[in-house]
Amino acid sequence: MARKRLVVGNWKSYIESPSEAHALALALRRKARALPGVEVWLAPPYPLLPAVAEVLESSPIKVGAQALSASPGGKHTGEVSANMLKQVGAQFALVGHSERRAQGEGDEQVRAQLLQALQAKLTAVLCVGEHERLQDGSHFSFIERQLVVALDALPPKAKVIVAYEPVWAIGKSAEEAMQPQDLEQMAIFIRKTLVETLDRSAGLKIPILYGGSVESANTHALLIGGGVNGFLVGHASVEAEPFLEIIKACK
Ligand code: 13P
Repeated sequence: MARKRLVVGNWKSYIESPSEAHALALALRRKARALPGVEVWLAPPYPLLPAVAEVLESSPIKVGAQALSASPGGKHTGEVSANMLKQVGAQFALVGHSERRAQGEGDEQVRAQLLQALQAKLTAVLCVGEHERLQDGSHFSFIERQLVVALDALPPKAKVIVAYEPVWAIGKSAEEAMQPQDLEQMAIFIRKTLVETLDRSAGLKIPILYGGSVESANTHALLIGGGVNGFLVGHASVEAEPFLEIIKACK
């Protein structure tokens, strides 16, 4: 996977109506061509995904899901399988987002979801993140475990992206986000873990994103000082202008 900068918008449940989703996708499609050098992906809520995929069909912006089932299709009421997502236009899926883990999804389930995504040829965006930073540094081993359980023994060509999202930094403002020097330290640790867990060249190629209160005010500093390949953006991705500002700052 080439190291182009990547900005993924996770719409969470902020956008609830098809008309709002349509308008936002259209506004981004119009501007996307003027922003070469940065890849833009969007993760709308499930019911809005097919319509957003249709709006973006001939644009470089990719569409994916915020979650997916750990099982293939079958007797699983309320579940959304990887194959379903693929057929309605998804090209990637987030797996292991902390807001899903908070609902009880454990590391093994996250691995099963990741394998489902890969078998359907969806890029898996694996989210990891500690709840708090501890004096004794044990948040590093927490992240290591999340990575190793999900990625151990994957084929070297598996299409995976890692999104590091410390839970304590999510849903706040740029001032309360992680500091670039702390992010850089964690990005180096994640890279080392990837190289040790996977084949060396695969571990070096996997893009590492940061998520947690990314806004236009901190994008540049986190990109330059944090040593990451892009961002997973929540609240600042659900209106065109703030999201475009973040994308521009990644050029
Ligand atoms: P915020 O950008 O709202 O902090 O959300 C981050 C996130 O969880 C993206 O997946």
